[in-house]
Amino acid sequence: MRKLIIAANWKMNVGPKETTDFINSFTALLGRKCEHTDIVLAPPFVSLPAASEKLSEHPLVALAAQNVSQHDSGAYTGEISVLMLKELFTHYVIIGHSERRSLYGETDEIINAKLLKARQANIKPIFCIGETLEERESGRLESVLRTQIEGGLKDLTAKDMTDTVIAYEPVWAIGTGVVATAEQAQETHAFVRSVVKDLYGEDIANKVRIQYGGSVKPGNAAELMGQPDIDGALVGGAALDPQSFYDIISNSAPE
Ligand code: 13P
Repeated sequence: MRKLIIAANWKMNVGPKETTDFINSFTALLGRKCEHTDIVLAPPFVSLPAASEKLSEHPLVALAAQNVSQHDSGAYTGEISVLMLKELFTHYVIIGHSERRSLYGETDEIINAKLLKARQANIKPIFCIGETLEERESGRLESVLRTQIEGGLKDLTAKDMTDTVIAYEPVWAIGTGVVATAEQAQETHAFVRSVVKDLYGEDIANKVRIQYGGSVKPGNAAELMGQPDIDGALVGGAALDPQSFYDIISNSAPE
């Protein structure tokens, strides 16, 4: 049985002060229904120190960064290294989000270098993949995802794979209010798991957690999380409000 993992990707929202307020309100809501879920918050870099300090009192909630450099240190203006994230007790990092791919030109090679760097530092990657509407409608869904998965995971060991979470986020469902149907999402998650099986074997494929992302809300979370190959969610807009993020988690809890 894979443990659910539900993560909030705040993107470029929620500064340090708001982060403290969010965590105060959110952690006050946490109760029995959250015990069976790994809960992760991914604030912007500047809010990580405030989040790290507040979450030191709350072992149930882990911290993620939204990006990381593939380099260790040096002349990379504006970049943040894995060691800097470690100092702030950041246990996860989102890598290869579609916004990083489309707006900042991140290729499968760059994403792969970041994944390997995160694992060297023992940080768990949340590795994002997903197709555009045009790719899905022209019948290229599986080839696009296979290329992203094979490219992103190149040279990652089996042990590192078990510490990696995959987030399947169809680009057409991100921030649009259009959610993949539970059936569409399940079918695609099963395909993603089959690619992991081709690369790492059945045992590891059965262990790897695959999150769904794209317009997840309190109202659709239970149906999505009820699918056999959906092991959690990566939530954008609906995770900006503590009550809404809590409702997604509690509505997803196994009965
Ligand atoms: P929304 O939940 O706002 O659609 O964003 C999804 C996402 O991109 C999470 O990484």
